[in-house]
Amino acid sequence: MTEMLKVVDLHAVAGEREILKGVNLTVNEGETCVLFGPNGSGKSTLMSTIMGYSSIKVTQGKILFKGQDITEMTVDQRAKMGIGMMMQRPPNIYGVKLGDLIKASSPDNGETILKDASKFKMQNFLEREVNVGFSGGEIKRSELLQLTAQKPEFILLDEPESGVDLENIDLIGNKVHDLLYDSSCPGKQRHVSSLVITHTGQIMDYIGADRGYVMRDGRIFCSGRPGDLLREIKENGYGECDGCQQIISL
Ligand SMILES: Nc1ncnc2c1ncn2[C@@H]1O[C@H](COP(=O)(O)OP(=O)(O)O)[C@@H](O)[C@H]1O
Ligand SMILES: [Mg+2]
Repeated sequence: MTEMLKVVDLHAVAGEREILKGVNLTVNEGETCVLFGPNGSGKSTLMSTIMGYSSIKVTQGKILFKGQDITEMTVDQRAKMGIGMMMQRPPNIYGVKLGDLIKASSPDNGETILKDASKFKMQNFLEREVNVGFSGGEIKRSELLQLTAQKPEFILLDEPESGVDLENIDLIGNKVHDLLYDSSCPGKQRHVSSLVITHTGQIMDYIGADRGYVMRDGRIFCSGRPGDLLREIKENGYGECDGCQQIISL
């Protein structure tokens, strides 16, 4: 199986603190992997580091994307290579209209996706500044519209269902599904790979998941079948998870 993303012994610092303390993780081509872990364990930091945000400094290890070392690349270089991210808490972008951002980030100047804005219930937001005054559900739909516009090959989803009501979860779940699966393909094979952070597992009902990872204190502690891991976490919490005592090493 071709490795789409490979994270090797990744250490990273944010502020003065080491947040990632030797992360090892792989996502194969066409795979959907979920990442579980308690608050503050470093999940969002891991995604930001994979995307290349400058607030985080890699001190050791590397990130490979489609076999190429991207550890030192800038965010825009990574985006051009096909990595996209839906952030947990994206910033407001004052002075930039959502429609203009979408035109700038899509390969066809937004022609296809802007016609579909109503399917994301975003048609009345294109003239508004990105995220400014948006509700929780509107922010998530806006992020997903931007992500879809980018036509990524690999997506990072940071808690796509958090703070979202049931109706919006359904829309977001279906749109993430459409992003991952090529509907024109017989058997509906996934053509986009992903790493998804979830606490509730709700998003898994829409996209399925091949493998789960559990993160604790800046390391991946164990991996396994996503449904089994979620059940174990729901029953025993993160601290008591007897089956998960082994840090994933190289
Ligand atoms: N820029 C930063 N400066 C200092 N600490 C940070 C920074 N970003 C994240 N952290 C800290 O890193 C830890 C992990 O955060 P995060 O990756 O957001 O966890 P998770 O997504 O698993 O809840 C938290 O204690 C958080 O406060
Ligand atoms: Mg987080």
